[in-house]
Amino acid sequence: MPGTGRVRSRFSRDPICSNAATMSDTRPLLIFDSGVGGLSVLRAIRELLPQGPIVYVADNAGFPYGTKSEVEIDTRVPALLGRLTERYHPRLIVIACNTASTIALGAARAALDLPIVGTVPAIKPAAEQSRTRAIGVLGTEATVRQPYVDRLSAEFASDCLVLRHGSAELVELAEAKLRGLATDPEKYRAALSGLLDQPGGERIDTVVLACTHFPLIEEELSAVAPRPLDFIDGAAGIARRVCVLTQGQSWPDSPVPGIAVFTGPPDPPPALVAALRRYGLQNVERL
Ligand code: DGL
Repeated sequence: MPGTGRVRSRFSRDPICSNAATMSDTRPLLIFDSGVGGLSVLRAIRELLPQGPIVYVADNAGFPYGTKSEVEIDTRVPALLGRLTERYHPRLIVIACNTASTIALGAARAALDLPIVGTVPAIKPAAEQSRTRAIGVLGTEATVRQPYVDRLSAEFASDCLVLRHGSAELVELAEAKLRGLATDPEKYRAALSGLLDQPGGERIDTVVLACTHFPLIEEELSAVAPRPLDFIDGAAGIARRVCVLTQGQSWPDSPVPGIAVFTGPPDPPPALVAALRRYGLQNVERL
């Protein structure tokens, strides 16, 4: 559930989330994406760490990432994370973007001296659960062409047919939805057809949402799917990883309002500001 997150989830009693230290540490978790997609990761982190201060960064000045080149992403993301680290002093960074992670995670880790958790396509859990041994990977155009995805497929899904499709349109639809705009079901259908209409696509039973924007429109995708499909993403696993990496650290005693940071104009419209509040991001800033 989005929001300020006093809700206890089934993960909340997970011992890896217990914190032994007693002194309050106000350093935030910095969650980074090109736009609103990382909110799907923020939601999962909030469930496990409701007391964690959050700085959520949408690189709207660089949006969209999925149609950019590898060089552009690999240069932009580490530099931006460096500036953000100087300003917000996070205890940990989550790159809540498959495109940025599959291209620039190595460069970001080399440039910064703090833990960085990446978001990569959930091919492993998809392969573990697929009954038909055919899985789809729906991401951005940049993500689906990455050697990182080749490696995940070879390592974890070698006995599966793995089909991929990149869609910039779905990213735009998720951005529009969070701005309260109506979206056309035909556009979701067309994007899904790009995956399912490939040879062998009729066997797919599990679709990896390999862009953090896509869990935000999972309902719309489900509604136009020609048959029931299992959609899977990596947000819960990322949240568990954040818990492990911050184990034993202290947190503020009372909830701290989250901050949403935009890297450029325009200011977010009222509907988006309201959506950000529902995710616990009460304040909006410009980098
Ligand atoms: N949310 C991002 C991802 O997970 C990228 C979307 C975009 O900017 O194209 O890939």
